[in-house]
This record gives sequence, structure tokens and C-alpha cells, in this order.
Amino acid sequence: MSLFQSNIDGIPLFNRGKVRDIYDLGDKLLLVATDRISAFDYVLPSIIPDKGKILTSMSVFWFNFTQDIVPNHLETADFNSFPDMLKPFGNQLEGRSMLVKKARRIDIECIARGYLVGSGYKDYLNQKPVNGQINLHGYRLPTGIKLAEKLPQPIFTPATKEDNGHDINIDYDKMADIIGDDLASELRRLTLAIYTKAADYALTKGIIIADTKFEFGILNDRIILIDEILSPDSSRFWPVATYKPGQNPESFDKQFIRDWLETCGWNKSSPPPQLPLEIIDKTVLKYKEAHRLLVGKEID
Ligand SMILES: Nc1ncnc2c1ncn2[C@@H]1O[C@H](COP(=O)(O)OP(=O)(O)OP(=O)(O)O)[C@@H](O)[C@H]1O
Ligand SMILES: [Mg+2]
Repeated sequence: MSLFQSNIDGIPLFNRGKVRDIYDLGDKLLLVATDRISAFDYVLPSIIPDKGKILTSMSVFWFNFTQDIVPNHLETADFNSFPDMLKPFGNQLEGRSMLVKKARRIDIECIARGYLVGSGYKDYLNQKPVNGQINLHGYRLPTGIKLAEKLPQPIFTPATKEDNGHDINIDYDKMADIIGDDLASELRRLTLAIYTKAADYALTKGIIIADTKFEFGILNDRIILIDEILSPDSSRFWPVATYKPGQNPESFDKQFIRDWLETCGWNKSSPPPQLPLEIIDKTVLKYKEAHRLLVGKEID
């Protein structure tokens, strides 16, 4: 069954994001990945069938893959072990939801970048060189880095979490002012360690993880990794095969959608149009391919 929006009667909604519906179970949260898709900051009216299942399976894979670096909030994604009150909702939840420990969220987006693109590249271009180097969020980088070029080493570029509107990139020092030095430096260390391990692995599977965002929380005085991790919604995935520094890379998952939206006559300031079936089909295949390459099996 495809799912545009979940409706779990009797359980309070914690948040409805662009793609996920989150329910509040007291000391736990239920994260439901729907088949919604967003592009250019809009939720599209079309669904990408099974996208939520594919992303849930990927997230579970990554949580297991990174748990030697930091503990995470995942309790179970196995519907059979969900609490009884959720049992009537199997057709909405099975395969696309995770039961997680609720934590006290740290309000910083922890971003790691291995390649320079997007707002990171924009910030880079806006800096004046000093002694032949560019200071980007506290890192000294050479001048002349091309669009989407690989960085000498991955960098940590935090942002504040803004409830309304876009998150704001901040310097590490500003982050340390907000949450304290010890916590800031530990989150930087963890972010770079998780990114590096995941990106090295993905590269062997033909996928570049150009950058990614993590959120952390505190539970019982310990740092845990929360939210979703290393999904195409929280990261940039590029196919190695077509990557070329200096060129705007193909996005692994949304390229067909973006290309079609760019040429269909939509003005990007009104509700977006329905996608043609052919574009939806191609996109589903891309998501399945990413899943197969990274997780090493087909989605059930
Ligand atoms: N274990 C957790 N404990 C507490 N809060 C969590 C946990 N896991 C995720 N969250 C929070 O739950 C919310 C999930 O919402 P979601 O990411 O779906 O939507 P959003 O961030 O509002 O919008 P977007 O769709 O742009 O991501 C986020 O605010 C996230 O920080
Ligand atoms: Mg979010």
C-alpha cells in the first residue's frame, strides 16, 4: 500500500514534516516515513510508491552500521514488536515506521561536507581570500575549489535549527557559545566520524555522499543520534559514474523530478503540479537502486 499521509487514531501527532509523520508515545516516538516527496522546498502532490519503506530500510541499515561510533535512538523497525495499541494500523505502519527513544533534542544541525556544493559552496565564494586561503567556518581552504569538488578533508559546518524558514549556517565558535565547548567539540567529532565511515563505504558501492546532516539528542545524560540518518532526504547522494568536479552533479534520487519540474512551466511559487507516471516510475527505480547498492538486498 502506498501512503501519502498517515492517520493513527488516538495517538497524538508530535510533528508532521514534509515527508514523515511523527507520533508521540510518551517516552518514545513513532516515526512514519510516508511516500511523500519534496523538491524545491515544496511537498509534491504525487507519491513515490514504497519510498517510505525504502528509506526506512536504509535508515535501519545506517543506524546499525554506525552504532559502534555513537548509540542511536532506534528501538525497533519490526512491526511485530510494536506496542499493542499500534497493531490495528499495520497497513499504514508495517515496513515504513520506526519506534525510537524520545530524547531532548540538541537544536543544532550537525552537517558534514566532503564535497563543496549548495550553501557551503555559496559561503565559500562569498569569502575574501587571506594569504591565499579562504576561511570557511573556521577551516582554511585553498582558493579555486570548483563546484562540487572534493575537499582536502571533510569539514563540519553546523547550522541552527529554525522552526520557520531556512536553517542558518553558523561558525563552530557560535555553536560552542550556544551549547558549550565540550558538547560542541564532541558533536563535531562524532559527525565527522560517522560521515567518514558512511561515505567511505558508499563510495565502494558507487555512491558519493557529498554531505549530510545529523541531529543529536540527550538521553540519560548521554549523547545519542536521533532523527533519520544518511537518507537521500538528509544528504546529497551522487552517482560516482557521472560525477565531475566543476559540474552540477546529478542527484541520485530526485534528478528526474527536478529536471521535469524545471521544464514543465511551473513557476516554483505556486502549488507544484502532479508528476507524470513515467517520471514517478523512473524515480522509484532510482530509490530501489540506491537501496540495493547500499543495503545489499532488494526491498521486500
Ligand atoms: N529521538 C528523538 N527525540 C526527539 N525528537 C526527535 C527524535 N527523532 C527526531 N526528532 C525530531 O522530530 C522531528 C521530526 O520531524 P521531521 O524531520 O519529519 O520534520 P521537520 O524537521 O519539521 O521538517 P522536514 O520535513 O523539513 O525535515 C524533528 O524536529 C526532529 O528533530
Ligand atoms: Mg527534519
